[in-house]
Amino acid sequence: MAQKSLNQIRETFLKYFEKNDHKIVESSNLVPNNDPTLMFANSGMVQFKNVFTGLEKRDYQRATTSQKCVRAGGKHNDLENVGYTPRHHTFFEMLGNFSFGDYFKEKAIHYAWDLITKDFGIDKNKLYVTVFHEDDEAFNLWKKIAGLSDDRIIRISTSDNFWSMGEMGPCGPCSEIFYDHGDHLKGGLPGTKNEDGDRFIEIWNLVFMQYEQVTKDKRIDLPKPSVDTGMGLERIAALLQGTHDNYQTDHFKKLISSISDVTKVDQVDNNISSFRVIADHLRASSFLLAEGVLPSNEGRGYVLRRIMRRGMRHSHLLGSKEPIFYKIFDSLKKEMSGSYPELKRSESLIKETLKMEEEKFLVLLDRGIKILNEEISKIDKVLSGEVAFKLYDTFGFPLDLTEDILKNKSLKVDHNKFDDLMKKSKELAKKNWKGSGDSSEEAIWFSIKDKTGPTEFLGYKSNQSEGVILNLLKDNKELKKLSTNEKGIIITNQTPFYGESGGQLGDQGTIVSGNSVFEVEDTQKNLEIYLCIMDQ
Ligand code: GLY
Repeated sequence: MAQKSLNQIRETFLKYFEKNDHKIVESSNLVPNNDPTLMFANSGMVQFKNVFTGLEKRDYQRATTSQKCVRAGGKHNDLENVGYTPRHHTFFEMLGNFSFGDYFKEKAIHYAWDLITKDFGIDKNKLYVTVFHEDDEAFNLWKKIAGLSDDRIIRISTSDNFWSMGEMGPCGPCSEIFYDHGDHLKGGLPGTKNEDGDRFIEIWNLVFMQYEQVTKDKRIDLPKPSVDTGMGLERIAALLQGTHDNYQTDHFKKLISSISDVTKVDQVDNNISSFRVIADHLRASSFLLAEGVLPSNEGRGYVLRRIMRRGMRHSHLLGSKEPIFYKIFDSLKKEMSGSYPELKRSESLIKETLKMEEEKFLVLLDRGIKILNEEISKIDKVLSGEVAFKLYDTFGFPLDLTEDILKNKSLKVDHNKFDDLMKKSKELAKKNWKGSGDSSEEAIWFSIKDKTGPTEFLGYKSNQSEGVILNLLKDNKELKKLSTNEKGIIITNQTPFYGESGGQLGDQGTIVSGNSVFEVEDTQKNLEIYLCIMDQ
C-alpha cells in the first residue's frame, strides 16, 4: 500500500465515518464558546459537550471530526514535555467519531477495528487493547469482534481508563488501542512499570460516555449512553509512515526543513529538541493567533505568550539573531490551510504578531540568558526565587521558560519565593496606582479584578457564548443578587460583548441565566474587566 501523507490520513478517517453515516463536522475553535471553565479545546468532544448531556440538540446523531486541540494548561497540559519526547505536542489534531445516544460499545469497537486493520492496513499482531477493569462487556466484545486473545486485552483499574474532559462534564470508562513499535525501543505494556516508554503507544481511545460529573462528588447518568473517540492524527500518521516519531512524519519533516532553510542550521542529535519545539510551538501559536488570541500577561493570552517565548528561545539556541517564526509560517500555511482556511484568512495578523513578539523578546533574551548563566555557575541545585522573578519581571521570561533552560542541567527554581515576590509586586502596583491621583472610587476595580481576573473577550469569533457570572455590582458596591427590575452591572469570566474603547461604543444585548434575563445597555472595560451594564 502506498504511504499516505498526514493530510490524506485525515481524509481517510473522515471519509470512513462519512461512509458509515456520520456527519463530517468542522473543528470548533480552540477557545471554547460553550465552556467558560475550559481554557482550550483539549479533545474532539468539547464542541459536543452539551449534546452529550442533552442540553443541545443537533440534526444528526453520529458525527466525525478532526478537532484542533491545545494542551498547554488545565487538566491536560503537555507543554513541558514538548521537545523532549517524539510524540508530545501543545497543538495537535484529534480525529474522532461520536454517537449521541445512537450506537454504543459494540459498533464503536467494530468501526475502530475495521478502520485500522482494513483501511489503514495495520498488522493485527502488533495491536493490544486495554479496557476499564470492570468492563467485561468491552472485554468480550474485543474477543468477539477482533478475535484478540485474552493476553492482548489488558484490564486497567486506574483513571487511565476512565476519561473525563475536565473536573466537570461528560465522562465514562474507556478502551484504548496500543501499537507495538518493536523491541528495538524501550517500554512495557500498559499497566506495567515501564508503560511510559516509546515501544507500546496508545493510538486510539474509545470512550463509552455514560456519565456527567456535575460536582466534585456527584456523577449522574447521561440521558443515553454515547460514544466519543480520540485518535491523535500526528501519532497515527507516524505509525502509518513507519516511524514512532511524530516529528519524522511528512508534515513535520516539511516544517523542520523550512526551519533549517531559515536558520541555516541542520537538525542533528544535539539540537533535535529545538527543532521539535519550534515546529510544535509555531503550530500552536499560529492557530491561536488565527482565532484572535493575542499574547498578553493574563489568561489565554499568557499561555500563548509562554508558548511563543519558549519557541523563540529555541530559535535563539539555534543561533538566530533575527525573528524566524513569521518566515516559517509560510510552510505551515502551505501544509494546513487546505483543511484550516483560517490560516490564510488571518495570515497578516499571525505574521505581524509573530514578528513583533519575537523582535521584542530577542532584545531581552540575550541579557536575560547572560544573567541566568552567571547565576547557574554559582549554584548547586536550586535557582533563587529572586533571580527567577527578576527574569520574569525585567526580561519577560515566563517561569516555565526559566525552568526549561534549567531542565537540561537538572536544576530547579525556588517556587515559594518566586510566588511571594509575584504577590508583593501586584500589591505594590495596586498601591502606586491608588496614589496616582485617580479617584479612589475607581480603585475598587483592583480588588474586583483580584477576585474575578480579566475578562476573556470572545467577540471577534462569535457574538454569542456561555460565561460564568463572577460578580454583580450596583453603585460601585458588590451584591449577592440583582432583583427583578433592579439595574446593575454583571461581570462574567468571558464575553462576546465589546467594551467601549478607541471611539467604538460598547455592545448591547442580552444575558440569560436560567429564567432571568438581563438587558445589557452598554459594555465598558475597566482594568481588562468587561462590565455589562443596565442603568436606564
Ligand atoms: N475524548 C477522548 C480522548 O481525548 O482521548
